[in-house]
Amino acid sequence: MSEPPLIEVKDLKVYFPVRKGFFGKKQYVKAVDGVDLVIGKRHIVTLIGESGCGKTTLGKTIAGLIKPTAGKILYKGKDVLKLSGKEYNEYRRNIQIVHQDPFSSLNPTKTVFQTLSAALKRWGIAKTRKELLERSAELLEMVGLTPPEDFLFKYPHQLSGGQRQRVVIARAISVHPELIVADEPITMIDVSLRIDILDLLLDLQKKIGTAYLFITHDFGAARYFAAKGGGIIAVMYLGNIVEMGPAEEVIQRPLHPYTKVLMSAVPVPDPELSRKRKPLQLRSLDIPSPLNPPPGCKFNTRCPYYFEPCDKEVPKLVEVKPNHWVACHLYTREKK
Ligand SMILES: Nc1ncnc2c1ncn2[C@@H]1O[C@H](COP(=O)(O)OP(=O)(O)OP(=O)(O)O)[C@@H](O)[C@H]1O
Ligand SMILES: [Mg+2]
Repeated sequence: MSEPPLIEVKDLKVYFPVRKGFFGKKQYVKAVDGVDLVIGKRHIVTLIGESGCGKTTLGKTIAGLIKPTAGKILYKGKDVLKLSGKEYNEYRRNIQIVHQDPFSSLNPTKTVFQTLSAALKRWGIAKTRKELLERSAELLEMVGLTPPEDFLFKYPHQLSGGQRQRVVIARAISVHPELIVADEPITMIDVSLRIDILDLLLDLQKKIGTAYLFITHDFGAARYFAAKGGGIIAVMYLGNIVEMGPAEEVIQRPLHPYTKVLMSAVPVPDPELSRKRKPLQLRSLDIPSPLNPPPGCKFNTRCPYYFEPCDKEVPKLVEVKPNHWVACHLYTREKK
């Protein structure tokens, strides 16, 4: 029998209760609303979607930081809610998160060495001061902070944003994770340094073989990451994955109208191509509230291709080309 994938997400739902005013009725933000996703060993999954569509919630739930409202997460074939204590620890160590803001994810009172040592000691990877120093120096070299002696005893405020994010990445890889959830890892970093951080992540993937869930709202970053790293792209809209497929194909030949809209907003370097490309006209510019999403396809209120069943029936995610999935009535229903 073949080995189960590293992570399997099955019909995952994460709802947050909210109340308007003290006596208001309890409502739910359906941050993740029925997601299926597989992340294999060493695979790259790029998750893209607008702000508030549920990317961080999905990433945190996969990493075990948020409990699902419904559905399942399987780690190497086993339901994470049913893992034994030892297995659960292994799962938590094996999935590390790199957050958007490297400043708030580092303790300002700790030096780089103290930050890295804490992770190494916690998981019993190094113990003596000599081991801790050696391993920390190795990690700094791996993330391009060289010579390591210049960085080991610095505090976060003495580092630039890019350097701090490198420390966060060093801490994530220090425990030999099998999956890194990189949640908008370049958003808070100076534009000139962003490509370097993406290259570092891709380089580490080749060296140490981690899988990535790379989360971004920026199609340009997704395109760069996917073009160099391959893997799949999953497009999220208001809690659902609306398109998923091989990275190159989703970029070159997007199927879902929402992906087409996202793509048409990305500048292309070729002026000829850029002039020919017509931006898609949205029906409405308003993003619906996740508290009260539209019925049927949640994109129907904005979709340029809206037709009869769209505001009534929820489209299912179906495989319309090998390994290329889309949830849109255009591909399953006749347009009259
Ligand atoms: N703890 C919470 N309580 C209530 N609502 C929440 C909570 N966390 C997230 N939400 C809501 O869930 C939805 C999804 O949020 P999430 O942070 O996952 O989106 P995102 O795609 O990561 O957005 P961004 O691009 O801004 O980071 C949003 O409407 C958000 O306001
Ligand atoms: Mg987020």
